[in-house]
Amino acid sequence: MTDYLDNSNKKIKLALQLVSGYASEFQSWRLPESHEKAYTDIDFYVEMAKTAEKGKIHTLFIADTPSFGGAGGGTDIATRSPAFPLEPMVMLSAVAYATQKIGMVATFSTTYNLPYNLARQLKTLDTLSKGRLGWNAVTTGTPFTAYNFGDKPLPDTATRYEMAHEMVEAVQTLWRTFGENAYITDKATGQFADMSQIKPAGYKGKHYQVKGALPIPATPQGQPPIFQAGPSPEGVELAGRFASGVYANPFTIEEAKAYRNVLKQSAIAHGRNPNEINMFSGFMFTIGDSYEEALARRMQLLDFMSDEEFNGQIRYLSSMIGVDLTGRDVNEPLPKYLQNQASPHPHDPRSPRAVALIQRGMSPKEVLANGVINYHPVVVGMASDVADFMEEWFKAGATDGFSLAPDSQMGVREFVEKVVPILQGRGIYHLDYEGDTLREHLGVPYQYGLKG
Ligand SMILES: Cc1cc2nc3c(=O)[nH]c(=O)nc-3n(C[C@H](O)[C@H](O)[C@H](O)COP(=O)(O)O)c2cc1C
Repeated sequence: MTDYLDNSNKKIKLALQLVSGYASEFQSWRLPESHEKAYTDIDFYVEMAKTAEKGKIHTLFIADTPSFGGAGGGTDIATRSPAFPLEPMVMLSAVAYATQKIGMVATFSTTYNLPYNLARQLKTLDTLSKGRLGWNAVTTGTPFTAYNFGDKPLPDTATRYEMAHEMVEAVQTLWRTFGENAYITDKATGQFADMSQIKPAGYKGKHYQVKGALPIPATPQGQPPIFQAGPSPEGVELAGRFASGVYANPFTIEEAKAYRNVLKQSAIAHGRNPNEINMFSGFMFTIGDSYEEALARRMQLLDFMSDEEFNGQIRYLSSMIGVDLTGRDVNEPLPKYLQNQASPHPHDPRSPRAVALIQRGMSPKEVLANGVINYHPVVVGMASDVADFMEEWFKAGATDGFSLAPDSQMGVREFVEKVVPILQGRGIYHLDYEGDTLREHLGVPYQYGLKG
């Protein structure tokens, strides 16, 4: 195995997705144990972050799109919880103040922001958290967002990525305008700052221009590390140039390994150390004391779906297995001759699992409950099953870590209390944080200003 893909001397790195307060299943707000007003209860976000910190989880991960729904969440929240939390920067300032160690990676668009505001807000939050912030720099791919920022359509991919490079350059340039040792505060001499170290940004791009300096000193990690999400060649290029972390959604070990290699190669092409780009593979889980208990929770989540949504899932499952399920009793296994007819859709990597479960005699509803059409691989079972999944991917060199997407609020505590000790016992997960800043947690070097 290529050196940088070999994990034998490494430990798993973890991000916890903190969606809108209900974790990753949009129906989980209705579970009896769920706090139904979590979306607007800041105490609740804080509590989740503290639980994650007990489990030494490296960082929180906040996905976001500045529009009502979009990006997989849909715009109809009549029965589903929103896909995104309250505004991440404001929400995280409360979380930062109530926690000590955990990192906080938040998503902000490189298309629908201005460099000065973004650089200032991110550096302020990095200051407030004493160096625990990361920025997931995304190009924003949804027209819902475009029309919230004027009446122009979404720019094409090439333009958005051109803007993304400029945005990261401009923000990193601004971060360095306040020189590393310019913050003097000498009461005896009366010198507050060394003006010889404070220089205007003077950034002139095609899309973004910014002249002045930012009056905020370096933070304990210098500046926030960059994260990236989006697997297009343009996305990989952006990640290779700037990212310390990448949020990815592979479905198989082979797919993950290939993508991890592509990312590391992109970093090398930009003259960087491949170990400084960490791939976090998203996966979802439902933990029970037995497989049956975990499956029962997921069956309940399906019961909470509107008929329209559930029927949509059945139609999609039909296309995955090549058998029309509409009009059938979804609680009954298919007759043997139909089980035998089922064959995986060639363009959906999740299909072979769906076919295998159908052929094991599960009903279509049970197959759905196993998470075959979720946007990440899903593990349904005991804590040891979740640990086994992670260990297998990690030891195969498929990923640097995982972006955890628990099914429900309860999933966060269950992971920390039940899965973390197993991973630690197997020697593949750290016992404590490596330092105090997000860069230290990730094992990436201090950085101040634009590089590369
Ligand atoms: C795992 C994953 C997570 C993402 N999270 C977000 C997000 O939180 N907000 C957002 O606007 N876009 C998000 N994106 C979208 C990407 O930033 C990108 O806009 C989209 O994938 C299209 O770009 P591409 O052509 O590079 O794939 C995500 C993409 C992936 C693969």
